Amino acid sequence: MMILTFKIFAFILYNCLVFAQDSDRLPLSYRPSPDNLYEPPRSGDSVSLFDYVNSRNDLTVLARVISECAGFAQAFDTVPTWNFTFFAPSDTAFNQTGEYFNTFAETPKGKWWLGNLIQHHYIPNSQLSVSSFSTNFTRVQTGTFLYIGAQVIDGKLVLNRAATVVESDVPVTNGLVHIVDRIIDPSTMIFEADIDKTKQNFIAGSCSNPDLPYC
Ligand SMILES: *[C@@H]1O[C@H](CO)[C@@H](O)[C@H](O)[C@H]1NC(C)=O
Ligand SMILES: *[C@@H]1O[C@H](CO)[C@@H](O)[C@H](O)[C@H]1NC(C)=O
Ligand SMILES: *[C@@H]1O[C@H](CO)[C@@H](O)[C@H](O)[C@H]1NC(C)=O
Repeated sequence: MMILTFKIFAFILYNCLVFAQDSDRLPLSYRPSPDNLYEPPRSGDSVSLFDYVNSRNDLTVLARVISECAGFAQAFDTVPTWNFTFFAPSDTAFNQTGEYFNTFAETPKGKWWLGNLIQHHYIPNSQLSVSSFSTNFTRVQTGTFLYIGAQVIDGKLVLNRAATVVESDVPVTNGLVHIVDRIIDPSTMIFEADIDKTKQNFIAGSCSNPDLPYC
């Protein structure tokens, strides 16, 4: 009985200590990364998405957002073994967001939403150049599994009928980057089944193949 009581006491004490340690962190802030975190190997001459974003002085807000979302700096600095397309919102794009964006982005929920927002600019498995799109309005699936609208107007790619690609087809290792002048918000998802899809490779976990059992 003594031993059991002691065990319970030790368990409660342990939990209190863990809890005390936890409360040193700011509420809703991230835990620090553990030491010796694994980093996938990459060759010296490769250019990661993060290298590219950091190399431009008109992508400073994007660089900060990537640094602030947990795990994003590591993910963006990894050279993937798959192809990808990324629409990089410029500082002008973040400038065009307005008061709602700015006040919401500061909140803990807003920070979580910002990560989702960035993922919505990423298309895994396909390198889509401007020539992959046409003057017809089509839709294309992103890393969030949601669709965005895409159409070439006057020779420029326009997304969701709002964001214009101002600099296109920039190659990085295994990927293509396009600079856009407005952010692409997941809440403006396009899902009219009658809008043609741009040809792209399958995104695992999505229902772009309706024959899959989970679709
Ligand atoms: C990436 O795309 C290139 C052509 O653009 C293709 O040759 C290559 O097989 C693709 N890589 C992967 C991993 O799908
Ligand atoms: C963004 O807005 C600020 C304040 O209005 C302005 O000073 C800055 O030049 C703008 N930057 C860009 C890239 O549009
Ligand atoms: C655009 O849409 C029309 C009508 O659906 C189709 O005939 C045409 O081939 C499409 N053009 C391209 C470039 O996909």
